[in-house]
Amino acid sequence: MSNIAPNSPTDTAAVLIDGLRAVRRGAAALASLPPESYAEHHAAFEMLSDQRGLIAEHFAGRLAGLGNGPLSVLSVGCGDGSLDARLAAGLLLQVPGRPVRYVGIDPWIGSAELFTARMVALEATELDSHAYVASFDDSPVDETFDVVMFVHSMYYVADVAATLRSALNLLRPGGQLWVAVAPTAALNALVEVLAPPLEGHRQWFSADVEKAFVAAAIDLDETVTLDALVDLSSASDEVLDFAVQARLTPELRGPVRAYLEAVSVPGAVGEQRVPHPVDVFAATVR
Ligand SMILES: C[S@@+](CC[C@H](N)C(=O)[O-])C[C@H]1O[C@@H](n2cnc3c(N)ncnc32)[C@H](O)[C@@H]1O
Repeated sequence: MSNIAPNSPTDTAAVLIDGLRAVRRGAAALASLPPESYAEHHAAFEMLSDQRGLIAEHFAGRLAGLGNGPLSVLSVGCGDGSLDARLAAGLLLQVPGRPVRYVGIDPWIGSAELFTARMVALEATELDSHAYVASFDDSPVDETFDVVMFVHSMYYVADVAATLRSALNLLRPGGQLWVAVAPTAALNALVEVLAPPLEGHRQWFSADVEKAFVAAAIDLDETVTLDALVDLSSASDEVLDFAVQARLTPELRGPVRAYLEAVSVPGAVGEQRVPHPVDVFAATVR
């Protein structure tokens, strides 16, 4: 016998997402997010979530474990560099004077420029940073690193296993590959139903990345889940679009907001805190 009470939020969420799936079945794909405002709406989304802080803390801890010597990091899909600048600042504080090479790569020039501006604003002569404007699939990077990280960017690559292999080739012996990517939890169930396909493929989530590590014959050191919550009660239409990775039509907004209410955890009145976990996969080049 099911232990789910009839009309529980779980039932309601299932009914709502089934309804969205039915409405979308056979319909033309929704428009994708405009690249020129992607970073801005991503930043607004992160303001509503505790996930960025958890990732920063987790990655800072990993970086601190790599010793006190010179360090080089490649951030793939660096976005506006707000996470990377925070990590770079931590590295410089941890060991004053240590040379740090910090490289970003992102296909959107606006994001790459913001990455560069944030690194320059650290005003650290020991920090040598550079941003490439390119997709990782066409990577112009011709140096090797102690760390290659993908934070919320693996969703978008054409072939996850091939990407993991390419990333491994950019690591020095003993170097570390870190991939932070969301599982298909409550929020990303919406992405699966609503986001338009990306150049012929859907967005990849944790389960896809885990399979790709196996396919690429890369042994994982560990996988850690960081449990975060995002409060979408005050999300603007643009931030809601970012959350589902699609431009929603006005008639979809009501059911989407109702679904988010149904999957939210009990909290203070007026809050709509939706589980927003992220998995971190870590592997070392032997
Ligand atoms: C959700 S954002 C994450 C940004 C940043 N890592 C962070 O956590 O704040 C995803 C980023 O991946 C970038 N991206 C998308 N496809 C990519 C690709 N093929 N290669 C590299 N970056 C890509 C996007 O432009 C975007 O800046």
